[in-house]
Formats: sequence, C-alpha cells, structure tokens
Amino acid sequence: MINKFISFEGVDGVGKTTQIDLFLKKLNENNLSYDLFREPGGTVLSEKIRNILLDNSNQISDITETLLFLTARSDLVNKKLLPKLEKNESYIICDRFLDSTLAYQAYGRGIDLDLINSITNAVVETVVPSTTFLLDCHIDISIKRLGKKDRMESAGKDFLSKVKHGFLELALLSKNRYVIIDANKSISEIEDLIWGHFQKRYLK
Ligand code: TYD
Repeated sequence: MINKFISFEGVDGVGKTTQIDLFLKKLNENNLSYDLFREPGGTVLSEKIRNILLDNSNQISDITETLLFLTARSDLVNKKLLPKLEKNESYIICDRFLDSTLAYQAYGRGIDLDLINSITNAVVETVVPSTTFLLDCHIDISIKRLGKKDRMESAGKDFLSKVKHGFLELALLSKNRYVIIDANKSISEIEDLIWGHFQKRYLK
C-alpha cells in the first residue's frame, strides 16, 4: 500500500501556498484528515533553523546553508513524520521536502548532488512522499509574484531559473512520484488539476 505522504514543490512565487490551502479545504470537505508541515520548520528546532536561513542579515556559505536545511529536515522526520507515518491515519502534507534541497542547493547553488543525496538518504530513511506535486510556471511570473524577499528569495533570476530547471530534471528521474502541474493556468484550474490527480492516486 502506498503511504499517505504528499509533498508540494516549486520555485518561490509559483503559488504553492495558495494551492496547498485550497487542497486542504478539499480534504476537509471530503472528511479526510491531514497534518500539514512546512520545510524548513515543523518542530521547535527546525523553526529556529528556518529563521536563521531566511534572515536577510545572515551571511551563510552554501555548504552551511545545505547542512542547515538537512538538519531541519532530520529533526522534522524523527520527531513528527516518522511517528505519524507509522500510524498511517491521516494524510501528511508537506510544503517542500527533500527535492527542495536537491533543486536549490545542488542545481541552484552547485553543491555536489551525490553528497546531498547520501546525507538525505540517511536523514529521511524510509520517509519519502508517494506523490510530489511540482508546480511549474514561467520564471518571470513567479518573480513578479514575490513581495518582500527573504534571504533565499533574494538570490535572483539566474538562481531561480537553475532551481526551476533542477526540479524538472528531478521530476524526470522520479516519474512515478512526481506530478507536474502547469502553474501558468488560473488558480481554479490548478486546484482542479491537483484534486483530480489526488483522487486518481488515493481514492480509487
Ligand atoms: P518557503 O516556505 O516555500 O518560502 P515562503 O514561506 O517564503 O513561501 O521556503 C523557504 C525557502 O527555503 C524557499 O526560498 C526555498 C528554500 N529551501 C531551500 O533552499 N532548500 C530546502 O531544502 C528547503 C526545504 C527550502
């Protein structure tokens, strides 16, 4: 049986938060229970690490940044995700997960992909989503949507283009897990696409 762990991914400004909110409303309407987590975050320690990572006044080297994201994930997996997945009661919805580190730190920053993969494997163990919704839209659209930028979002268009390309390559490598959603479409069209794929994958 597939697990009930679903992640949402995409570059900043792609509309991920809006779509997660809409998806959770649909789960509610259908009496399906869920737990929502965001990465980095979800535990007291990981939320502290999130603040460090997103604070514009911090200067952080690429490898330090990578290790901090992985540390935050390790804490979330051990304290929250593993116990919940073992119970297998509610859906676990994660706003970003392991693919963000590969897309942002490997494809975006240039940290060695194998290095991240091997630490990630140790960190996540068996905790891998059964579905990853990748929201993908034109990079200019996502940049336009960004308001006040945090440290990660301030990295610029070239960086975000590399991240977008990284996500699409990762999707090709894990075709069964990834569902690519055309996020150039309207909010309600995207919502319907996501719900349609969810129904096909989990409710049939
Ligand atoms: P997110 O919560 O999507 O940002 P926001 O709250 O502004 O919508 O993600 C935080 C930022 O961290 C985002 O720019 C992506 C980045 N990130 C990485 O670079 N690597 C990672 O492993 C993760 C989980 C996030």
